[in-house]
Amino acid sequence: MPLSKPKISALTTRLLIWYDQHGRDLPWRIKGGQKPDPYHVLVSEMMLQQTTVATVKNYYSKFLQQFPTVRALARAEVETVLQTWAGLGYYRRAKLLHACAQTLVTEHAALWPQTVEGLKKLPGLGAYTAGAMAAIAFHQPVAAVDGNVERVISRLHGLTQPPKDNIKKIAALTQALVPQKRAGDFAQALMDLGATVCTPRHPACGRCPWAAACVAHQKGLQEKIPAKVAKKKPRSCYARAYVLRDQHGKIYIEQRPHTGLLANMWALPMGPWEEEGYQHTPPIKAQWRRVEGQVSHIFTHLRLYVEVMEARISTPPQLNGQWLSAPALEKLGWPKLMQKIFHHWRQAA
Ligand code: ADE
Repeated sequence: MPLSKPKISALTTRLLIWYDQHGRDLPWRIKGGQKPDPYHVLVSEMMLQQTTVATVKNYYSKFLQQFPTVRALARAEVETVLQTWAGLGYYRRAKLLHACAQTLVTEHAALWPQTVEGLKKLPGLGAYTAGAMAAIAFHQPVAAVDGNVERVISRLHGLTQPPKDNIKKIAALTQALVPQKRAGDFAQALMDLGATVCTPRHPACGRCPWAAACVAHQKGLQEKIPAKVAKKKPRSCYARAYVLRDQHGKIYIEQRPHTGLLANMWALPMGPWEEEGYQHTPPIKAQWRRVEGQVSHIFTHLRLYVEVMEARISTPPQLNGQWLSAPALEKLGWPKLMQKIFHHWRQAA
């Protein structure tokens, strides 16, 4: 049931007071009435889409040091952007962020559209990101509904269906709560409430500024809402990775194909990823030795098991990649999977 205007106003006020006292101190948050930089907001929102706040904190400042403005990002090669993003996962986000910067510079003279509709036309900005940008960067009174917000609103209204079956209703109920002033703070307050109080398990209703109005809390359903949907088990794949060393101890890496997981990233050579088992397809003929044990890594719908093979050669043949020393490799931004493989090899070596 929609809430009355006075109830909405009371909820909004309570949440903003709570946010002023308990909101998290995060590097991308602007305090004391300063103007947010839309580019900074976009970078943080893109990073936060699939990644925890704790992890994003380590990448956000590094990314902005490397690409301080939207023009700097637009000018950069996509490979450099991917390397700076390396380790954060979901690399499609980095490519879209880069494409967005290029579109903004070439088609909008680096001037941001300020409405949700205008923002949604930029590459990589869906309903959530456009809403978050409009509210946080441009103070538009619009909602930004992510997974945290879906949970909070479902509980507040006692909605027992899985949020994914209820997207439009949740969006409308959230929008009804958005205040005309401080819309950006409201959006972030709702995210913080979901992340720190109205958590997926064991929500801390005793600390919640909305507990008195929350239907789930009144009915004791806070652990049952939102309804869980059975997760698909990820399929398993198997692949070999190859650590090839030259006479100076340098290691061979190459760029991954332009499509598929980890597209364009620098990586150790790998064989095909097969459901049937490990295939031996080394980059060159050599005396390959298997490193004991295996590495396991999960992508969204896929669990990959990797066996690591190593070989030394004295006269490297002509190959398309590059040879780097171990310290240079440590410094190279590369994907989590490669970090795991490399450390597995180093520990065993
Ligand atoms: N999750 C997504 N965007 C966020 C933000 N701006 N602050 C905290 N958590 C978030």
